[in-house]
Amino acid sequence: MDIKNLEQWMKKIKVKNLVNADVEVVNDSPLVMMGKGRQGAVFQISDDICVKVFGNTEDCDREYYALSLGQQTTLFPKLYGKGALYIVMEIIRGVDLREYLQSQPLTMALSAKLIEMLITFKQIGYERIDHHKRQIYLQPDGSLKVIDVARTIWRDRVYPYPRKLLTSLGEENKAIFLSHVQEMSPELYAEWLHYIRMEEISREITALLLPQDPDKIKIKNLSNTLLTTEDEKNYVTKLHGLVHKVFKEEWVKAMLARGVDPETVMAKIDEHWDKLEQNFESRHPEGDSGYEGDRRFAGDRNSKGDRNSKGDRNSKGDRDNRKGKIFEGDKGRRSRGAKGAKGGRHFAGDRYDDRNRRDEKRDKNKGKDKKRR
Ligand SMILES: Nc1ncnc2c1ncn2[C@@H]1O[C@H](COP(=O)(O)OP(=O)(O)OP(=O)(O)O)[C@@H](O)[C@H]1O
Ligand SMILES: [Mg+2]
Repeated sequence: MDIKNLEQWMKKIKVKNLVNADVEVVNDSPLVMMGKGRQGAVFQISDDICVKVFGNTEDCDREYYALSLGQQTTLFPKLYGKGALYIVMEIIRGVDLREYLQSQPLTMALSAKLIEMLITFKQIGYERIDHHKRQIYLQPDGSLKVIDVARTIWRDRVYPYPRKLLTSLGEENKAIFLSHVQEMSPELYAEWLHYIRMEEISREITALLLPQDPDKIKIKNLSNTLLTTEDEKNYVTKLHGLVHKVFKEEWVKAMLARGVDPETVMAKIDEHWDKLEQNFESRHPEGDSGYEGDRRFAGDRNSKGDRNSKGDRNSKGDRDNRKGKIFEGDKGRRSRGAKGAKGGRHFAGDRYDDRNRRDEKRDKNKGKDKKRR
């Protein structure tokens, strides 16, 4: 057959994707179909060359890219060309693993070839190193070839072990293969077993959780114990902690973006925050939370209105001062940091969680403060 006619033939083949079924094919070309799946249909062009016609360009691009990654190896069909919806490639002959294992044993040597295949997948950059046994072909010389690789790349979530290969082998051959892996690669075997166990546990938990219908009213009532805004003193402490947390994280981000050593940043934050706390505590002796009801969250009307105007004015002034100091500084740093924002990428707030260190310092300072008074 003449490959020059390829474009003409391609125009005469229509492949349509279906949901959960093999593609629908309308073939008005003289090409003979060799097989089809959910992504495309394969037609013979010559003794050695076939063309896979896809239902969409995305699958076509992915398969071409995946095949091109493996062209330096002997595992995949050779590529000869590509169109928007088709790939011209070598015909893979031999016997596929599904047929082979129907009459032949899974030997240690064959298991070794399967592990080597997975190693090659990983080496060439496939994200999903898993294949159904029918997509793996044994060659007359005993080597393996693989077709249908579009799903080896660009998969968001993949099983971290060759689940499809294992399950497609069937219970008996799966056990044989795993025993071979255990013998040849005990660490890999242990890892796969771990993932298999994790998967089993996840399934058991999901089976338990899915049918459960939680008592929403009970949860709502009980969850009230988690609320923190009712008790004013507690609320102020929580809000204080929140603002502190935000401030510290933003500051560290900004400083890291500027290339400053995180330890130095943390020490400076401690110093800065301790000063603010000392100022605050000296202005608000014990028992005075500094909190005034009208600045609580929207919807809380009860605490409004029953405070004397003097107290209100004072505490408001104090608070606004405080706020001004903290957030002015914060803003400045944040905007400077934003220019070199790449530092933020490396920042993980928890890594710099120095709560213990700060608590110790705070205790020490409180001691000093008391002595001063
Ligand atoms: N390079 C090839 N050489 C020989 N036969 C092939 C080749 N590629 C595909 N085939 C045949 O065409 C069939 C369908 O191809 P393929 O499995 O690649 O389609 P698919 O739509 O991607 O399948 P799936 O639904 O599993 O993704 C195969 O089962 C095989 O019989
Ligand atoms: Mg496919």
